Amino acid sequence: MLSPKIVASDPEQPAGPLYKRGWSLHSSEGSNPDDIVRALVELGERLGTRVPGRAGLLEEVVEPLAAEDAHPRSLSARYGLSALPFHTELSHRPRPCRYLLLGCVDPGSPAAATMLLDWRTLGFSQDELALLEEAPVFVRTGRRSFYSTILAPGGAFLRYDPGCLEAMDDRGRRAMQLIDGRVAAAPFDAHHWRQGDIIIIDNWRVLHGRSPSDHGSGRRLARILIDA
Ligand SMILES: [Fe+2]
Repeated sequence: MLSPKIVASDPEQPAGPLYKRGWSLHSSEGSNPDDIVRALVELGERLGTRVPGRAGLLEEVVEPLAAEDAHPRSLSARYGLSALPFHTELSHRPRPCRYLLLGCVDPGSPAAATMLLDWRTLGFSQDELALLEEAPVFVRTGRRSFYSTILAPGGAFLRYDPGCLEAMDDRGRRAMQLIDGRVAAAPFDAHHWRQGDIIIIDNWRVLHGRSPSDHGSGRRLARILIDA
């Protein structure tokens, strides 16, 4: 039997918290990596269509990487095992994926938390929203680099990633300073993982980051990305 579709805009659905705060917590019945990936895929496919990540894979198991081991344009290449700053997943694509699903294969020791921040709580004024929606910023991603804005038309999504966004003029610099400052000062949620936990993040609304990790901590999260 087909599982009912999760409608993120309907608070009566099992994804109610996804609607209310932009992310929701679930759990996998089994605890081995295959069970967790299967549970991620089952939840994700109720929301939309899977899309490949940077490495071209539909499902990945990610672990904290030292800078020298990371993809040269990834945040890990710049920040390594330090805290990974808040960002929108796939900011380097013209339209970042709508949802990001993470499942905990191993919380690691020491464990690192996933930090979550709803950009709509950042208190932007109408003028500030207009700046974010209009100021051009450069999205650096090799041959496919392009100009865009931090806020999509009508505020559909926020594109924010200190690893690939660059201001090219005064307005862009003002927009970047505005969002950098507001994100740095904002209170956020921190999810401390237990094996089998799954979180669904509305990537158009909630920025995510990671607290500092350690070499060989064993932390592993399964990840899938969903377009909807
Ligand atoms: Fe990420």
